[in-house]
Amino acid sequence: MLDTKQKTLCEPFKIKMVEPLKITTESFREAALKKAGYNPFLLSSNDVFIDLLTDSGTGAMSDNQWAAIMTGDESYAGARSWQALEKVVKKLTGMPYILPTHQGRAAERILYGILGGKGKVFISNTHFDTTRANIEFTGATAIDVMPNEAKELEVYLPFKGNIDLDKTEQLIQKHGQENIAAIIITVTNNSSGGQPVSMANVKALRAICNKYNLLLIIDGCRIAENSYFIKHREIEYINKSYYEIAQEMLSLGDAFIMSAKKDGLVNIGGLLTLRDEALSVNCKNLLIISEGFTTYGGMAGRDMAALAVGLEEVFDEDYLHYRIKSTTYLGEKLKEKGVPVVWPIGGHAVYIDAKKLYPNIPVNEYPGQALVCDLYVKGGVRCVEVGSVMFGKYDKNEKLIPAQNELVRLAIPRRVYTQSHIDYVLEVFDEILEIRNQKHGYKITYESKFLRHFTALFEKLI
Ligand code: F0G
Repeated sequence: MLDTKQKTLCEPFKIKMVEPLKITTESFREAALKKAGYNPFLLSSNDVFIDLLTDSGTGAMSDNQWAAIMTGDESYAGARSWQALEKVVKKLTGMPYILPTHQGRAAERILYGILGGKGKVFISNTHFDTTRANIEFTGATAIDVMPNEAKELEVYLPFKGNIDLDKTEQLIQKHGQENIAAIIITVTNNSSGGQPVSMANVKALRAICNKYNLLLIIDGCRIAENSYFIKHREIEYINKSYYEIAQEMLSLGDAFIMSAKKDGLVNIGGLLTLRDEALSVNCKNLLIISEGFTTYGGMAGRDMAALAVGLEEVFDEDYLHYRIKSTTYLGEKLKEKGVPVVWPIGGHAVYIDAKKLYPNIPVNEYPGQALVCDLYVKGGVRCVEVGSVMFGKYDKNEKLIPAQNELVRLAIPRRVYTQSHIDYVLEVFDEILEIRNQKHGYKITYESKFLRHFTALFEKLI
C-alpha cells in the first residue's frame, strides 16, 4: 500500500496501451445528440469523451490477463482454460458445481427459469432490472424489501444496501414458505446506489432461510467492492483480507450468480455456482440447450482464462483501495460543490438527484434526462438516467406514474480513466451548476413497450 499520508490518489498501475479519445466541440455534440433523438444510448461511442454509461464490461484488463488470453485453450470439452477457471471459482465460492455463462443474465435465465413460474415469489434487497425481468418472464413475482431508512437519499448509513429482515420474514409468512422460490441478496446493491450489504445482514438472512428451508442466492457481481466496505465498516472484519471476507459471504449462500463483466475484470462472461447437486443437473441441462457445453457455457476459452486471472486480481488491496476511493473522490467533490448526490457514495457509481439539481423541470418532463443530455453537450460525458424514463409507467389515462426518484448514474469503468479525467468531469459539473435553473425538459416522441430507456426518442422542450 502507498503511504496513506499521500494526498493524491494515484492509480496503482501504469499505462501500456492507449486508446485515443476524440475531442469534440459543444456545437458538434449538440448536433450529435439531436441526431440521436436526445438519447445518449443512441450515440456513437466515438463521439463520447468520458463514457460513464456503465461499469459493466467496460474495464481494462491487466497485462497478466492479456497474457492469459494468448494461452486460452479453445477446446470444446474439458479445456485447460475451463479447468483453471473452475479451480479459482471453487476456491472462492466453496461451491462444488460451477457453470460458465456468457454474462450474468444468462445465469439468471437458467436459475430463475427453473425456480420460478406462476405463483412463485422471490424476495430481494433490490432485484436488478434483468433479474426482475427474468423472474417476471416466468410468471413469478419479484418483491424488493429495502429498509425504510435506506430509501432516504441523503441519509448516511454504513450498509444502505441491506435487506429488511423483518419485512422478509413477514413476506414469507404472508405468501407461505412453499411459494417462496428463493431469497436473493444483491451485493453491492446496484439499484440502490451501489450501496454495500453487511455480513451481519447476510448471516441473519441465512438464519431466516434455514428456519423456513429456503434457498439463499447471492447476486455478487460486485462482491469484491462489497468486501472492501465490510472490512472498513464492520469492525470484526478489520483484520480479514478482502478475499477471506468474500469467501465467508459466499459460504452463506446456496447459489452465486455473477456477471463477470464487473468484478471479474473482464469484458464478457458470467457464472452460476451451486451447492445442490439435483439443482445443478437441471441447470446444466438448460445450459447445454441454450448457452453451450458445460465446460465453456457461453465463453471462449480465452475469456475463461482472463476471468480466472481477473477473479484473483480484483481482491488486490491496492486495486480495491484505488477503486473505492476514486469513486468516493468524485462523489465527495460533487457534494462539496453543492451537487445533490446519493449518500454515502457507493462502490461503482455516483448517483445524482436530478430532481433536486434541476428544480424547475417537472418530473413529467424528465429532469434526469435533461441532466444526462446537458452533461453530454457541455462535456462529452455520457451517463444514464435512472428515473422516470427508465422506470416510469402510465395509468389508464396515459398519465405518467413517475419513478420513486429521478436519479442519474455516473458509473466508473474499472482501471480505464485517470484522476485527470475525473477532475475534468468535476469541471463539467461547474458548468451544470451555472445552468441549474434552466427549464428545458424533454418529451418522449417514441418508446418501446419494454425497457424503453434504451431506444426512446425525445424532443427538447423550449
Ligand atoms: N445483477 C446485477 C446486480 C447487475 O448489476 C447486472 C448488470 C446483472 C445482474 C446482469 O448482468 O449485464 O452481465 O447480464 N448490470 C449492468 C449495469 C448492466 O449497467 O449495472 P449482465
